[in-house]
Amino acid sequence: MMSMRLYQAKDYDDMSLKAANILSAQVILKPDCVLGLATGSTPVGIYKKLIEWYKNGAIDFSGVTTINLDEYIGLSRDNINSYQYFMRQNLWDHVNISPENTHIPDGTTGDVKGECLSYERLIARIGGIDMQLLGLGQNGHIGFNEPGTAFDKDTHVTKLSDVTIEANKRFFEREEDVPRSAITMGIKSIMQSRRILVVASGVQKSEIINKAFFGPVTPSLPASVLQLHNDVTLVGDAEALSLI
Ligand code: F6R
Repeated sequence: MMSMRLYQAKDYDDMSLKAANILSAQVILKPDCVLGLATGSTPVGIYKKLIEWYKNGAIDFSGVTTINLDEYIGLSRDNINSYQYFMRQNLWDHVNISPENTHIPDGTTGDVKGECLSYERLIARIGGIDMQLLGLGQNGHIGFNEPGTAFDKDTHVTKLSDVTIEANKRFFEREEDVPRSAITMGIKSIMQSRRILVVASGVQKSEIINKAFFGPVTPSLPASVLQLHNDVTLVGDAEALSLI
């Protein structure tokens, strides 16, 4: 049964502020919570706010554990395009979270299957995810669960679709440099999160937001599965929500 809260923000900054407020409320209510985190352009403003509030004493990450959705295969932790690097740059290095409490798949392991298995065990060991932050791909992916992914998958290796490679090439020098595969939490892993916070900004997300939340639930649009979750909050700016 869909139970979704919808917050319309004016613009990107307002979206970031509202979503950061929701995440920080989670941390204040449960100081030892587990936050599931995302990379990409959309959450950058949220992380900036959280850093600001940490610096002015409003929020404390000392008890928090974070677990990220995904990582490219083949990029080392110090590669500037790895999601591990992104997270350090955009959040972890600027707040008082213990490095041992930050988790992201290892994209350089020789044993990717083993890595996926141990990532699932890790999610269980830390007690599951209290609040999972999600961005939406223009093709409706969540994490790197591309269209066609079965809803019952847990953490697995996935090939990136052409649309995703095209969208993500903006961060790389050449399109050939974009990794072709990734380790991602599966839809099942994501759906087991107790609460889900989806963020979207810009007119290029408007169509997919509309279809995902108000169209049929289908693996050809992975984010549509969120209609089946009982605690989803969507924060979008006016452009992203312009079609609903
Ligand atoms: C990132 C992730 C992706 C992004 C999505 C949207 O960890 O899993 O699903 O959330 O591709 O990316 P942006 O925010 O760059 O539009």
